Amino acid sequence: MTKEARHETEEYAVITSQLTKTYPRGTGTFNAVESLDLKALDGDFVAVMGASGSGKSTALHLIAGLTRPSSGKVEIGGRDIYALSDAELTRFRRRRIGIVFQSYNLIPHLNAEENILFPLRIDGRKLDSATLEKLRSFWNELELTEQLAQYPDALSGGQQQRVALARALATDPVVLLADEPTGNLDWTSSQKICRLFDRVNREEKRTIILVTHEPAVAIWSRRVVVLCDGRMACDVRTSDFKDAVELAEFYQEIARGVGGNEQ
Ligand SMILES: Nc1ncnc2c1ncn2[C@@H]1O[C@H](COP(=O)(O)OP(=O)(O)OP(=O)(O)O)[C@@H](O)[C@H]1O
Ligand SMILES: [Mg+2]
Repeated sequence: MTKEARHETEEYAVITSQLTKTYPRGTGTFNAVESLDLKALDGDFVAVMGASGSGKSTALHLIAGLTRPSSGKVEIGGRDIYALSDAELTRFRRRRIGIVFQSYNLIPHLNAEENILFPLRIDGRKLDSATLEKLRSFWNELELTEQLAQYPDALSGGQQQRVALARALATDPVVLLADEPTGNLDWTSSQKICRLFDRVNREEKRTIILVTHEPAVAIWSRRVVVLCDGRMACDVRTSDFKDAVELAEFYQEIARGVGGNEQ
């Protein structure tokens, strides 16, 4: 179907093609994600917005290799991830994809440093001094140096989220996926996390797909994709908006337009 030359597809870090996830509902089925064609260029920063239940988390989990699609395809760095065996997919995910969740998902019996290094350990990777040096300078930037020996229950929400971000980036992933990473944070901690995402995107050229409800978070991205009932309602450039307020107004208009079709 696609007219694109093969070399062009290699510029994309993420491509979803007609991605669909169907779940049972009542006596029938429904599509939590339907025919989603989403592309993120290498080094792109895409915010995914949409009402509760619009399929944002499902889409992110499909892209992350955590949920097999009912149909359609996900390519990461040119690799059709669901063509891989389960074992290959697990390895691919560990090495190439970093994931940050709203609920941090830190391991309670490991301290902050052990949590951050966990993905490297389970992948059996040796920590050479250059890698450790790089990680340490990042922890320093995240203002975590003093918290490294602390366990998750002794960390604030903002600190836990920064540990989760450090963990997601420890393996040097191609793609960083985040599901409402600021959902549980106050304004200051939330903007701090946004600044980090922005730096990681601009300076390290890492591709980011971030799910959020908040225009003040989405405004940090380069593109905003809005989902409605599992489908893409729009895909706009963030630079077309003056600020988060203008983006919020646009988003509300889309939601109103879409709301007319509900029920
Ligand atoms: N495992 C599952 N089995 C059945 N239905 C599911 C499953 N996971 C999600 N759903 C349904 O799919 C739809 C989309 O869910 P999803 O979690 O992707 O929404 P969301 O946009 O992330 O919402 P929120 O903003 O509240 O996090 C919802 O109607 C949800 O109930
Ligand atoms: Mg969700």
